Amino acid sequence: MTTAILSALPEEQSGLVESLGQARHVRHAGRSFWVGMLHGMPVVLALSGMGKVAAATTATVLVEQFSTTRIVFTGVAGGVGDGVRVGDVVVAQDYVQHDMDVTPLFERWLVPGYPGVRLPCDAALSALLAQAVQHCLGSEGQRLYRHADGHAPRLHQGLIASGDQFITSAKVSQALRAPLLAAGHDVLAVEMEGAAVAQVCLDYGVPFAAVRTISDRADDAAHVDFPAFIQNVASRYADHMVRHLLDLLSK
Ligand code: ADE
Repeated sequence: MTTAILSALPEEQSGLVESLGQARHVRHAGRSFWVGMLHGMPVVLALSGMGKVAAATTATVLVEQFSTTRIVFTGVAGGVGDGVRVGDVVVAQDYVQHDMDVTPLFERWLVPGYPGVRLPCDAALSALLAQAVQHCLGSEGQRLYRHADGHAPRLHQGLIASGDQFITSAKVSQALRAPLLAAGHDVLAVEMEGAAVAQVCLDYGVPFAAVRTISDRADDAAHVDFPAFIQNVASRYADHMVRHLLDLLSK
C-alpha cells in the first residue's frame, strides 16, 4: 500500500521530504517524485504545479508509475463559505469543477460521463484525514495559527470547487459561489487542482482525500494573503496533519 502525498507547491509540503527515510528522487514527466518511508509507511511525495491539467498528469503518473494505492492532497485554498476563515482547515467531502460548462448539452458543472456534478472523495480516508486534522487543531494548530480575535482555527468538511483561476476579487468569488449555492452546492473553498485529482482517482478506483488550509478569502486581498500564508504557516500545517494521518493509517 503506497500512499501518495500530493501538493501543488513546495511550500505546501516542506518538512516531509526532509523526514523521508530511504529517500529516492525520481524525475518523470517533468516532475519530481520522492519515494521512501515516512512513519514506517511507504510513501511517494509529489508536486503537481498549479492547475487542473498539471494535477491530473501528476495523479495519473502516481497511479501508473508508482503503483500508488491512495492519494492525499495537502495544500491551501481560498475560503468562500460563510465562516470559513484564514487559518481554518477544510477536508473535502466532494469536489466540483467550477469552470466546467457544457450547457445546454449537459447540466452546468457536470463533467460529461460522470454520474453527478459532485466528484466524491473516499469517505473512509476522508474521515481519517478529518480525525488527523482535528487532532492537530486541538494541539499544535492553536500554536501554529490563531485568529486575530483569539479563536482557534476550525475544521470544516464539505464541498470544494476547483478551476483554472486564482480568485482575487470578492465580486468574482460571489459570482462563482452564488449559482452553485442556488443549485444546492454550498462551496466552502476554491482552489485549482483537487477536482482534477478526484476525477483521475475515480477513473482508476483509487481512494482520494484532500485537506486545504485557508490562506485567503478569495477576495481583493487574496494576492497579498496567499504568499504570506504559504510561506509562514501552510507547510507546518501539512507536516503535522500528514504525520498524524500516517499514524492513523498504520494502526
Ligand atoms: N488557492 C489559494 N487561494 C486561492 C484563490 N484565491 N483562488 C484559487 N486558488 C487558491
